[in-house]
Amino acid sequence: MINIENLTKKFGTNISLDNVSCDFNKNDSVALMGANGAGKTTLIRSILGYYHPNSGKVLIDGLDPIKDRIKVLKNISFVPQLPPPIKLSIEELMQYISISADVDKELIKHYSDEMKLDISANLNKSFFKLSGGMKQKLLIAISLAKKSSIIIYDEPTANLDPKARDDFYRLLKQNEDEKILLFVTHRLEEVKNLVNRQIYMDMGKIVSDEKF
Ligand SMILES: Nc1ncnc2c1ncn2[C@@H]1O[C@H](COP(=O)(O)OP(=O)(O)O)[C@@H](O)[C@H]1O
Ligand SMILES: [Mg+2]
Repeated sequence: MINIENLTKKFGTNISLDNVSCDFNKNDSVALMGANGAGKTTLIRSILGYYHPNSGKVLIDGLDPIKDRIKVLKNISFVPQLPPPIKLSIEELMQYISISADVDKELIKHYSDEMKLDISANLNKSFFKLSGGMKQKLLIAISLAKKSSIIIYDEPTANLDPKARDDFYRLLKQNEDEKILLFVTHRLEEVKNLVNRQIYMDMGKIVSDEKF
């Protein structure tokens, strides 16, 4: 369970999160929406413990994601808006993730196949040098292979063609029971079948929060 209580985050004088309070519980599948600059990514990074809040707090299953970062992140699958500049080869990256996050490499391969990403042909290639779509497919495959009870996607489909998006949504649908899913998107119609809650942010505030 994720508890966000009176969370405020400023960058200089710019208020990115303005006294936000919100809870996410097991089986919440949330489309997190709102214009560019609304504060969606800042909210997600706060959940991941990237930022020290100016005030308020975040708790993940009772733990502070800054103080207990390693423990908290063990239970979260996350795909960011922009792939990180990882210099490892795909093989090294899979090895690293299988050891550090206890993710089954065969399962990463399985989900990569399902996403039509040919891992075996690219094992020695640097992650950095893959196309945007290939990076995103690999990060998605890892996120699905990692057994987490919280899954967070920050606009993960921008670099995916329509077929790859469909593959992704199909796999996610199979994988979503008993979890919290937070999905930042501008395309509600695409995730309609996946979500049961819709949150809109504007200017650092949650302006609507509907369950259905
Ligand atoms: N690391 C940062 N440094 C300075 N300003 C930031 C930073 N991250 C976000 N902001 C600002 O916070 C506001 C919200 O940004 P963001 O959370 O990225 O919005 P969204 O993801 O909804 O597009 C924007 O005005 C943005 O410029
Ligand atoms: Mg964003």
